[in-house]
Amino acid sequence: MVQVKNCLLIALPILLTIAVADRAAAQTTPPASTPPAASAPTQPVRRPGGLVPGQKRPPGDPVQIARGKTLYGIACTSCHGADLRGGDLGGPNLLRSQVALSDQDGELIVPIIQGGRQNSGMPAVPMSPTDAKAVAAYIRSEVGNIGSQGKPPSIGKPAPSILVGDATAGQSYFAAKCSSCHSPTGDLQGIATRISDPKLLQNTWVAGGRGRRFGPTVSAPGSRRTITVTITQPTGESVEGRLVRIDDFLVTLALADGTSRTVRREGDVPKVDVHDPMKTHRDLLAVYTDKDIHDVTAYLVTLK
Ligand code: HEC
Ligand code: HEC
Repeated sequence: MVQVKNCLLIALPILLTIAVADRAAAQTTPPASTPPAASAPTQPVRRPGGLVPGQKRPPGDPVQIARGKTLYGIACTSCHGADLRGGDLGGPNLLRSQVALSDQDGELIVPIIQGGRQNSGMPAVPMSPTDAKAVAAYIRSEVGNIGSQGKPPSIGKPAPSILVGDATAGQSYFAAKCSSCHSPTGDLQGIATRISDPKLLQNTWVAGGRGRRFGPTVSAPGSRRTITVTITQPTGESVEGRLVRIDDFLVTLALADGTSRTVRREGDVPKVDVHDPMKTHRDLLAVYTDKDIHDVTAYLVTLK
């Protein structure tokens, strides 16, 4: 566990660099500049089946997998469990999932992360396609570990304690990254009393709220998380309202007078500016290290 974590912390700077490069280079495997140490995989091809004979599955990229693991811990653990065997909020065991077994490069898992199963209780989890692929890579590597070693990856290891962080470091982090929107004596006063379970408190702050942690595009009226949109026609005429629905072709907004309006989109016309107050929370997901998360939780726990 400790080793994994150290690895992760070391890997992060590299990983951020790669993430940027990745955007440009789309979905190629990491460049040859990846240090050899980082690319020594422990297991060979993970499972038979799925590959044309002679075609070799490229070994999982450890940096991508490490990133996927972090993101999984933040966005999926509550429902699918830290060991992928199902969690408190009712997600199925991914180690036995046919989808996870068959996934080659995110093509099956990514669409599910993006909302393909919303009707059966798996919410869309907002993250970039690169991040979603990293999570898929992590899931495949865990499924692969089982396949090749005949045992679940994290069996026999104690569950990590949540309260391992440094509250003082957490307070500084909060001052730097959170205090523009939150205050320990304002909206977050007594948060540790309201949410007394540290684990739930951590899930809550990381996700930016309880319950519908990853809100769909529809936003409730009059809350601090209301997503608004401004639509500006080439003529300069503009309307603003609460975002009800948006896709590449249509955008629907609720106006202040209680009516709603749907506007057709063609490319960049009209201009659509979406303002999502929770965007910062989601963007921060990609920034936190394990240490930041533990430190901030250790600090928030003191806000009784
Ligand atoms: C709020 C709970 C919740 C969260 C958060 C969640 N899931 Fe799920 N997930 C579910 C439920 C419920 C299902 C079952 C849906 C179904 O039966 O179609 C599911 C199904 C899946 C499946 C398909 C399993 C199968 O074999 O059918 C995959 C893969 C999956 N989730 C991956 C993820 C990943 C990756 C994340 C994090 C990025 C995530 N989930 C976050 C609840 C959740
Ligand atoms: C750009 C503004 C912004 C930033 C920066 C931000 N948040 Fe939030 N946060 C929000 C909004 C908006 C909500 C939703 C509040 C609501 O639902 O009433 C929220 C919700 C929360 C909640 C849930 C509050 C509750 O009462 O349930 C917690 C806890 C939280 N944020 C902690 C943090 C922490 C810790 C950081 C820094 C690491 C942070 N936030 C950074 C805007 C922000």
